[in-house]
Amino acid sequence: MCGIVGYTGNKKAKDILISGLKNLEYRGYDSAGICLQENNELLIFKDKGRIKNLITIIDGLSPNAISGIGHTRWATHGEPNQINSHPHTDCKNSIAIVHNGIIENYTEIKKFLESKGHIFKSETDSEVISHLIEEFYEGDFKEAFLNMLKIIEGAYAILAMDKNTPNTIIGARKGSPLILGIGNNENFLVSDPSAIVGYTANVVYLDDGEVVIIKNNEFEILDPVSKKSINKKVEHISWSLKEISKDGYPDFMLKEIFEQQQTIKNAFRGRISIENYDVKLGGLKLTPKDIQDIQRVFFISCGTSWHAGIYAKYVMEDLSRIISEHEYASEFRYRNPLIKEDDIFFFISQSGETADTLAALKLVKQLNGRVYGITNVVGSSIAREAGQGVYTHAGPEIGVASTKAFTSQLVVTLLIALYFGKFRKTVPQDKLIKIIEDLNKLPDIVENFLKKNIEILKSISFKYKDISNALYLGRGLNFPIALEGALKLKEISYIHAEGYPAAEMKHGPIALIDKNFPVFVIATRELYEKVISNIEEVKARGAKVVAIANEGDKKITKLADDVIFVPELEYHVQPIINVIPLQLIAYYIASFKGKDVDKPRNLAKSVTVE
Ligand code: G6P
Repeated sequence: MCGIVGYTGNKKAKDILISGLKNLEYRGYDSAGICLQENNELLIFKDKGRIKNLITIIDGLSPNAISGIGHTRWATHGEPNQINSHPHTDCKNSIAIVHNGIIENYTEIKKFLESKGHIFKSETDSEVISHLIEEFYEGDFKEAFLNMLKIIEGAYAILAMDKNTPNTIIGARKGSPLILGIGNNENFLVSDPSAIVGYTANVVYLDDGEVVIIKNNEFEILDPVSKKSINKKVEHISWSLKEISKDGYPDFMLKEIFEQQQTIKNAFRGRISIENYDVKLGGLKLTPKDIQDIQRVFFISCGTSWHAGIYAKYVMEDLSRIISEHEYASEFRYRNPLIKEDDIFFFISQSGETADTLAALKLVKQLNGRVYGITNVVGSSIAREAGQGVYTHAGPEIGVASTKAFTSQLVVTLLIALYFGKFRKTVPQDKLIKIIEDLNKLPDIVENFLKKNIEILKSISFKYKDISNALYLGRGLNFPIALEGALKLKEISYIHAEGYPAAEMKHGPIALIDKNFPVFVIATRELYEKVISNIEEVKARGAKVVAIANEGDKKITKLADDVIFVPELEYHVQPIINVIPLQLIAYYIASFKGKDVDKPRNLAKSVTVE
């Protein structure tokens, strides 16, 4: 949610900022802008819409600036127009800032600054930052910046430049991500590593409350209160240019769907042993006794990760026999939750930066609860704040609609349930063997499925591309898959879709059913006969039915209008493949409708505001 990038070094800042912004665009695409420092002037270029609009403006201009800041916006305060685009400046155009987050007390600050004669140009909360720095400025940019920080409240990652302090960028973070990239005679400040891949792999993850100053080949991280330098570990990121490029695919989403044959393997690699049917998870730091004593497990998350949380609850209860709950982070954090000593809390997040999930984690920590991250982005805020957990290792996910991260979350939560079950002796050996064998086979099965089924998925998608509504039904472990299928469709094609537990559909949604309201049903073996009855019920109301069924199921061919066959797997593993055709149907419907599947309207990949 908003991407920011800052650069000082010896190269043309314009090119580096634009390439960084392009890679960060998935975080927000309402507007984009850059500020370059040249001949002691701050040159600002910005426009509403995608980065390509910004590129049109700066095309032909070739400032030689070697430092600058940039921003790609997901609007919170103020409509996404040119004036509200970042960077924002002070009254004299001496200070420029970019900001990701929300300044909660901006109304009071704005009133105060207006009473002092400051003139605001935009409707954003962010603009108070540049004016506050101006207000405190007495010839020392750093001092003014630190004084500004004392006043603002809320969540932020901020970068600021002063035309009188050449080639210097000051940054600060609280609640929104900010990473220092250390290059050869150059330094970067960015929202996430995608902006610096190809330039440097050496990074420092800044923590909340830290300030950073970069100047060409120097950097300093400091505590804003004591003003003392902080020594931080330089870490190495492993993202490659190939991983953050489309690699020949028309969209990141399609690339990421196809990557699942590999990412599923990455999620269990080194964690299961097919020789002795064992599960190992190094990052949990729980003794067998700890696992024995657990009374309740919570899975807390948002969006697609919340769907993974439902699956996690079901498999955890089933395999480890521990009471499990799944929660929306945004609800959990405000409902005065009861936490007990023997509870443990997993926070599931692809980005590791979702504001509500992070806040829920901090709340549990404050209440002395035990917290674990299930994150994809290594070094992300949730991963570091939790201090322990399990990475999903799906690699960078750029398409806003999550796909490969979801199937990796399913694999990882299944492994955690098995791991707990192993110590609690609640998983029968034959079940354990079957799950591990089927998990191990899954990458090849996914690969074959994708090879064989693309044409049929395209033709089904074409057939249903003009629908206005759809219902997705599933039971048991396929209920979260139905939710996820519906979410994918509505996110990227803007078709109204709802996911429901198949039986619950009778308590409301069935009233909507008619011949123009197709129903996508997951009808693999789990609770098969019950699901078949539910299909009969919607068919009786005239619905067209698209079923996901197991290969060899003859009954379904007679009942459903369209069927996609998936291989039969152990029922905990089955949902992991079941979701893939639903991802592809959403993808192809949206593509046939001409939608920008990677950047759906109003959405952002990483929701760093609550
Ligand atoms: C946004 C994204 C979703 C994602 C959700 C939670 O809404 O568009 O794809 O599922 O945030 O994100 P997280 O990074 O915490 O999994």
